[in-house]
Amino acid sequence: MKKKKIAILTGGGDAPGLNAVIYALVRTSIAKYDCEVIGYKFGYRGLYNNDYINLDIKSTSGILHKGGTVLYSSNKDNLFDYKIEEHGRTIKKDVSDIAVENLKRDGVDVLCILGGDGTLTSARDFARKGVNVVGVPKTIDNDLACTDVTFGFDTAVNIVTENLGRLHTTTESHQRVMVVEVMGRSAGWIALASGIAGSADVILIPEIPYSIEKIVQKINERNAAGKPFTIIIVCEGAVDKNGAAVVGKVVEDSPDPIRFGGIAAHISRQLEQLIKQEVRYCALGHIQRGGETSAADRMLSVRYGVAAADLIEQEKYGNMVCIRDGKMSYDSLENVIGSTKVVDPDGELVYIARSLGISFGA
Ligand code: F6P
Repeated sequence: MKKKKIAILTGGGDAPGLNAVIYALVRTSIAKYDCEVIGYKFGYRGLYNNDYINLDIKSTSGILHKGGTVLYSSNKDNLFDYKIEEHGRTIKKDVSDIAVENLKRDGVDVLCILGGDGTLTSARDFARKGVNVVGVPKTIDNDLACTDVTFGFDTAVNIVTENLGRLHTTTESHQRVMVVEVMGRSAGWIALASGIAGSADVILIPEIPYSIEKIVQKINERNAAGKPFTIIIVCEGAVDKNGAAVVGKVVEDSPDPIRFGGIAAHISRQLEQLIKQEVRYCALGHIQRGGETSAADRMLSVRYGVAAADLIEQEKYGNMVCIRDGKMSYDSLENVIGSTKVVDPDGELVYIARSLGISFGA
């Protein structure tokens, strides 16, 4: 039987655990299944430019624990709507056929794509074009459907929780109100989990629109109870009662061009008008995606990597590996794309937070 040739790419915002998936996938594919593996650099851009490196046991040695991705990434470069220069003009064009040609020319049998919803939307579209695709669910936001948890999320929650602890001591010392902005786009998982673990007083998530008056009410209650400082954690994509979010910037040629940002500053300014206490804000930003990968994410990522290698061996293409009730499984990319996994306002985690006396500003 012909040796299978697998190509890996990592797309979208990086997430801790990408290297651990690559490590496990390469090792299992080579040592157990006798495959050949290459990695395209900078996500789909590398596939378009035929820019790849060979991946083997030696080149992936020592990467398991490292954050980032040895294959680099790009959260632009949608090959179905790609920015190119033609006749001196910049236009957008579907160049996916060139990618398919590159795969054929290089003898690639399977494309294994590590990404979030933008990257996996293209994965689904390549599957529809007949490419043998296997997806692996990556994102610190934990907002991908069909899997209980994505890799990268646990590390982000640990980082935020640790930083909430730091912000607690300084906020208490000055008896201030601190508004802490975290990532997550339109899903409040990071804010909710780290808000509970890090003992925030108010958690604002996109799934539960907030009112500034309710936040003030919670601050006043704490002051009256002899706790004259308040920690508010806010997901970057949170919305007020009128449905207004705060957009930081628009990144053209990204599958999802909206970048949230600035809501902590916005809420701080509003609070300053309404309360006597000093208000400060802190946006944790890309620190949430950087540095070492947590032990739980390393474990999850190697499980995903081995499961992806198994799926490729079984030739179950067009699927994404997933985890359900603690067990590895897989689901069709057709089911993954199109819906986002968001926090259930009536779900257990919100119930837990409310039981602890945490306010959702609602
Ligand atoms: O999807 C992951 C994520 O980190 C989001 O939480 C955040 O909104 C976005 O990516 C930031 O993207 P960029 O790296 O382009 O600033």
